[in-house]
Amino acid sequence: MKKAIQIKDQIYWVGVQDFNLRHFHGSLYPIEEGTTYNAYLIVDEQVTLIDTVEEEFTPVLLERIRSVIGDRPVDNIIVQHAEPDHSGGFEKVMQAYPNAVPYASNAGVQIMMKQYFHDYHYQKVKTGDTLSTGVNTLTFVEMPLIHWPDNMLTYVDQAKILFSNDAFGQHIAGYELFDEAYALNFCLDKAKEYYANIVMPYGMQVANKLKALKDMNLDIDMIAPAHGIIWKQYINAIWNAYEGFASFRSEAKAVIVYDSVWHHTQMMAEALAEGLGQNGVKVKVYKYSETMSCIIMKELLDAKAIFVGSGCYNNTMSSEIAGFLDRLISCKVKGKVGLGFGSWGWFNQVPGRINDKLKEAGITLLQEGAAITQNYTPSESDLSVIEAKAAEMAETIKSL
Ligand code: FEO
Repeated sequence: MKKAIQIKDQIYWVGVQDFNLRHFHGSLYPIEEGTTYNAYLIVDEQVTLIDTVEEEFTPVLLERIRSVIGDRPVDNIIVQHAEPDHSGGFEKVMQAYPNAVPYASNAGVQIMMKQYFHDYHYQKVKTGDTLSTGVNTLTFVEMPLIHWPDNMLTYVDQAKILFSNDAFGQHIAGYELFDEAYALNFCLDKAKEYYANIVMPYGMQVANKLKALKDMNLDIDMIAPAHGIIWKQYINAIWNAYEGFASFRSEAKAVIVYDSVWHHTQMMAEALAEGLGQNGVKVKVYKYSETMSCIIMKELLDAKAIFVGSGCYNNTMSSEIAGFLDRLISCKVKGKVGLGFGSWGWFNQVPGRINDKLKEAGITLLQEGAAITQNYTPSESDLSVIEAKAAEMAETIKSL
């Protein structure tokens, strides 16, 4: 039997582990060890469920709920986010508890109606609205675009818990629900990966919301997101990390991403790495088609520079690199420099096109926009020239 796990007086985790998930949100975010869909139950004079789970796991959610309240009904369902990893089980929960009152933001109600085509008589709530469930008072805070237009979080005063939905999430799946079961750096790294792959385009919204929450002077014992572990021991560290993520706080680091069939562009990537790495810039080098994209996105978040290379495929760049550049454009990165590079045979436009895409992504081009190009195989002397250019660019990167 699946049971709830108590996390505080009157508060229970009733979520599920999806251990076998390897593609979070489709191909957008490959993951290695599954995730959780966290739902929480507040057992007060009224019983309140915060979020549901992916539809296929709803029987587990209901089993965990019943392990605490038996035949008692759920009175309120807080729909913090309409995305189906949190709302997929909503209709089945409503069937189990037809008198429950659902609460959602205005945008949340609209999206729920468009997804499930039925009016469950939602109560619309906005920032500052409260719901008393007996001993506990729930305060709602809208956080649009962290990660969809409808997201909101819920603060429970008596328990001092911030139920943060997607914000502060990470893919750590297990039965150790609290951060203290893991090393700080592991937790921060997983949160960074999640932020980079899911939240990065919305840094401005995150920065504004962090400030607004600080201004509310909330007394917070736990931050309980909808994916992964609950923050308790490392709250200050994850808050500080989030401020850094939102502002693209970066270090003298370059991410080199490329694709290459006959190794010519790869040789260029490695010469760039040599010139940068030997001159004080931390370097990460990835052949895109052989790397989990989530790692590249994570490393990109706090890098000052990005170099993107592709060989020439007839008259275009590799389709994987083209897809990566389109994703980069959607990420709205700030304060980064970069440059395109690549080897070509009889069509020499690809490195320039990479530069165009980098500019479109808001990245300032190094070397006054002169991409690094190579006709066929780079010789030893060609590679030395690239290393020397990289050494010069290392000084620029360190000065930013
Ligand atoms: Fe975990 Fe935006 O859903």
